[in-house]
Amino acid sequence: MNKKIRKAVLPVAGFGTRVLPATKSLPKEMLPVFDRPAVHWVVEEALEAGIEHFVFVTGRNKSSISDYFDRAFELEETLARAGKIKQLEMLQNMLPVAGSKSFVRQQSPLGLGHAVWCARDIIGDEPFAVLLPDVLVQAQKSCLHQMVEAYEKVGGNIIAVDQVPMDQVSSYGVIAHGERNGNIMPITDMVEKPKQENAPSNLKITGRYILQPEIFKCLETQERGAGGEIQLTDAMHQLMKMQKFSAIEFDGEDFDCGSREGYTEAFLAYALKDEDLGGNIRTIVERLLK
Ligand code: G1P
Repeated sequence: MNKKIRKAVLPVAGFGTRVLPATKSLPKEMLPVFDRPAVHWVVEEALEAGIEHFVFVTGRNKSSISDYFDRAFELEETLARAGKIKQLEMLQNMLPVAGSKSFVRQQSPLGLGHAVWCARDIIGDEPFAVLLPDVLVQAQKSCLHQMVEAYEKVGGNIIAVDQVPMDQVSSYGVIAHGERNGNIMPITDMVEKPKQENAPSNLKITGRYILQPEIFKCLETQERGAGGEIQLTDAMHQLMKMQKFSAIEFDGEDFDCGSREGYTEAFLAYALKDEDLGGNIRTIVERLLK
């Protein structure tokens, strides 16, 4: 039996330089995507997949993230006094239960691999998920949920992948794979931010991972890779020599909120999907396009 995936790491220490000036004094993870911060959508995705504990790897100026996932007594009190029960209940119901969040600081911006390594003591000796909150995935069944189901079938380490045009591969981690079994395939190679001519395929790593705890050993001694940063992809490449890695081409659409186009696309996509307002928003967009 594969051990249950109970914990998730959310690296939220980055500066968000691609979406300045919006992120000058607001963490990029707190930028609203329709009616809630981006990171809230990611936490919802993880909760749907059965995650019980969240490890946020934060940096300086990120305290609004921990405030967001805490009670807001003055606000709740004011809503209660004003009889705004619907809003009050929404705030109270959206919180993961007390004690289910940990916050660790990544003291220096040494890269994604280093950020994940900072969570090692809280994760301990069990498999865990990593969700990059830059990436939002809209799907019928949440992306991480699909990955957990794949993990229950094949075990090992699982990475979510999606096709990108070849001229964009150099912005991502890219995999090579063996024979597909449905939408799951064994990974045979992976490389972080390859030049187009060296990319082993057009399948990019989309920022969702299920990893075995042995990854921390690989991260501990990991040297700097692409961009001078300690890369998670390099550590996974090392672990691949000892453990099985599978990719899942998930069902759903992913948005890279770290870029201005991706962020705008995500905002529109989530607004258009809203049960109450989606129809009105479609009318607004159509009018603007005329
Ligand atoms: C990170 C990962 C990369 C992955 C990407 C997904 O890169 O290192 O493998 O493809 O996220 O968004 P970053 O966007 O932090 O440069």
